[in-house]
Amino acid sequence: MVKAKKYVLIKYFEGEPKATDLKFVEEELPPLQNEEFLVKAEYLSVDPYMRPYTQNFPLGTTMIGSQVARIMESKHPDFPVGKRVIGYLGWRDYTIVGPSNFSKVSQNTLLPVGRIDILPDIGDLSPSLALGALGMPGITAYFGLMEICKPKPGETIVISGAAGAVGSHVGQIAKNLGLTVIGICGSDEKCKWLTDELGFDVAINYKTKSIAKSLRKAAPQGIDCYFDNVGGETSSIVMYQMKQFGRVAVCGTISNYNYDLELLPKSTDVLTAILMHRLKVEGFVVSQWMDRWTEGIQQNLQWIREDKLRYRETVTKGFENMFDAFIGMLRGGNIGKAIVQV
Ligand SMILES: NC(=O)c1ccc[n+]([C@@H]2O[C@H](COP(=O)([O-])OP(=O)(O)OC[C@H]3O[C@@H](n4cnc5c(N)ncnc54)[C@H](OP(=O)(O)O)[C@@H]3O)[C@@H](O)[C@H]2O)c1
Repeated sequence: MVKAKKYVLIKYFEGEPKATDLKFVEEELPPLQNEEFLVKAEYLSVDPYMRPYTQNFPLGTTMIGSQVARIMESKHPDFPVGKRVIGYLGWRDYTIVGPSNFSKVSQNTLLPVGRIDILPDIGDLSPSLALGALGMPGITAYFGLMEICKPKPGETIVISGAAGAVGSHVGQIAKNLGLTVIGICGSDEKCKWLTDELGFDVAINYKTKSIAKSLRKAAPQGIDCYFDNVGGETSSIVMYQMKQFGRVAVCGTISNYNYDLELLPKSTDVLTAILMHRLKVEGFVVSQWMDRWTEGIQQNLQWIREDKLRYRETVTKGFENMFDAFIGMLRGGNIGKAIVQV
């Protein structure tokens, strides 16, 4: 008999999430039925979407999230013991996966909940990359940049949330394509990583510097593309400094995730910037490229192998520290992808 641990949502988050909004539960798992298999989590992801998306699930739901797990027992011929899987199994260590809880992917769902895939062979690279550069965040960066910003060599791009999983990835692809890359992030250590190791041209610490002044200096001719991870006043400032026909990819608005939709913080109206600069602003959700998921992974893998794409992980050890990793990421404690290693 296997004992599993999981975190259950018992109170909807209000403001910043609290540890008491979740309950740590142990349960005994039943024996496997036909077409089921048992997996043990090795790496779990903590991501910004978990803050707003949990509001869409009933209380009592296992906290949502993806993990890389190893198959421990199996009664399913396609999922043999020893293989690794990636899937949205939630915040739990052991899980029985069966026909009732996988392979129900719909283009319309925001998250590929219910999808379980055998981890592709990535050789000597860490399986945890399937949660970052070779997973959802990396695919977000690739398609969001290529399909929405449509970058061209010689252009200038600004990226907010630049030192996180998605932002750091976007900046490197843009640099490889021949753009001038400006990142905005929340510490000097993050800025140094972006410019010294990832090749960003300029990095702005929004906590200590004026974004408006720094951008005027870094991009005196204006900005062609903006890859937006944070929203709010930062985005207004950037958009007023864009060139005619600039393109904005709205990937995330983490600066307001801790607020109720009715009480969002006010920021400078961006419509005048959109009108005056004739901007094209488009929001996207990565699942809209579900049918091209493998292309995203293959492209990112190739760039990693060619040393054109670097990654960093902030790893928290221990399943019992899931909440600390989550809140740490929301507060900006991570550089690159935030991961929990069981
Ligand atoms: N559209 C999609 O399909 C899609 C898919 C994946 C992710 N996303 C979005 O992309 C964004 C980045 O996700 P990620 O996984 O790469 O997370 P991440 O950037 O690795 O981690 C979150 C980061 O957000 C920054 N942050 C927190 N509060 C902030 C605030 N008030 N103002 C500015 N920055 C703040 C922190 O960095 P600092 O130290 O710089 O503040 C923190 O490290 C999020 O908005 C996420 O929701 C969207």
